[in-house]
Amino acid sequence: MFTKTQILAFALSLASAEAASKGFNYGAANPDGSVKVQADFQAEFQTAKNLEGASGFNSARLYTMIQGTGSTPISAIPAAIAEETTLLLGLWASGGNMDNEIAALKAAIEQYGEEFSKLVVGISVGSEDLYRNSEIGVQANAGIGVEPEELVSYIKRVRETIAGTSLSDAPIGHVDTWNSWTNSSNAAVVENVDWLGFDGYPFFQNTMDNSIEDAKALFQESVDKTKSVAGNKEVWITETGWPVSGDSQNLAVASVENAKKFWDEVGCPLFDNVNTWWYILQDASGSSTPNPSFGIVGNTLSTTPLFDLTCSASGSKSSSSASASAFASGSQSTGFTSTTKAASPSSSSGSGLGHGGSLGSSGSFSGGHYAGSSSVIASPSATPSGSAVPGSSSGSGSSSSGSGSSSGSGSGAAGSGSGTGTSADSTTTTSANPADFTGTGSRLSGSIFGAAVLVAALAVAL
Ligand SMILES: *[C@@H]1O[C@H](CO)[C@@H](O)[C@H](O)[C@H]1NC(C)=O
Repeated sequence: MFTKTQILAFALSLASAEAASKGFNYGAANPDGSVKVQADFQAEFQTAKNLEGASGFNSARLYTMIQGTGSTPISAIPAAIAEETTLLLGLWASGGNMDNEIAALKAAIEQYGEEFSKLVVGISVGSEDLYRNSEIGVQANAGIGVEPEELVSYIKRVRETIAGTSLSDAPIGHVDTWNSWTNSSNAAVVENVDWLGFDGYPFFQNTMDNSIEDAKALFQESVDKTKSVAGNKEVWITETGWPVSGDSQNLAVASVENAKKFWDEVGCPLFDNVNTWWYILQDASGSSTPNPSFGIVGNTLSTTPLFDLTCSASGSKSSSSASASAFASGSQSTGFTSTTKAASPSSSSGSGLGHGGSLGSSGSFSGGHYAGSSSVIASPSATPSGSAVPGSSSGSGSSSSGSGSSSGSGSGAAGSGSGTGTSADSTTTTSANPADFTGTGSRLSGSIFGAAVLVAALAVAL
């Protein structure tokens, strides 16, 4: 009846249909602020794969290609090879360090070859750069971002870099807050990517009814809006999650119970159906417990999660088909208009590496921490907005350690949520633009806060 080839083709089609990536975001810094080395990444990847109640969390999204500083490839790569963990690579695009990011990408291809490239599910050129560059991001003091044209030029450079190498088939995308995607001024970025990375946190959508009961609908709405501008391109869920502890945001309460509900209602339908990198396995602030804290295992790396990760057959099954179809439907974008209202809230998503606080309706900004990531390298500063700007800072030095706390205040009326904070650096960077260090947050972290700030700013703006 069927030839072997047909059967094989069928089997392969099934396999690829089930090949959605599932994993977590991984910043470049440990909870104590030190730069992760291979053993740290390996311990995390191994923990993710062996989480009680869950299976198949074997994909890792990274924020930078660089280990520490310079252009040495990040040690997450040999860790991923050792743990058979797939990779959504990231190049930190803000702050002028792209030459080093690209050099590290090239070096990784040369050094690790096929055993590396076969694990790569995609490459993200940048993370929330458009958000930080936006009016609200600037008002929120979010840190250095990039203009869409510049981002497009980086995307083209990365395409040229991988052409003819073992990574030539890796789809190239960009990760940003969803309202950055729906901002028509950024259409050139949509045109130049192969896939769109969606960051969205209903928790931070504090200008709306954002209780955990509202969370699934808010999430779906923001995904639908993103899909409405994506055309035929895939929308990958690059960051979402709900904090297990920390301050509330309007109706959103951070708790283990609510984090579980978000996992069950939002996560389970996505897992294995849509490429998804949850935020986050282990949260990090550089020193203390982040506020809010999104880590599903708490402060200590362990395969015992804070809540039951089991996706129940009923819950996840039924919702899974619903959501799969929602994702499949592509863009039915009727509702995508320019109303700012719609676009905004979710954008708050955090970001990169950590997530920070957000502005409450009262206008006060509660800072968060970040950890994580990204750029350890470069980015010293995390402004309240979370972003850290790697390159700018430096060039330098090691930003490896450094911790900061942030707090800020947003002015309600004006719409600006600017925060002030302190950041202590334990290391010296050569660089130095003092300004980069102000603001808050840990340098290591990179971006993050974006969301919160954004939200706050939006709240004000709206
Ligand atoms: C829309 O995007 C452009 C280009 O990135 C940016 O300058 C502008 O501030 C954004 N608008 C809003 C409302 O964020």
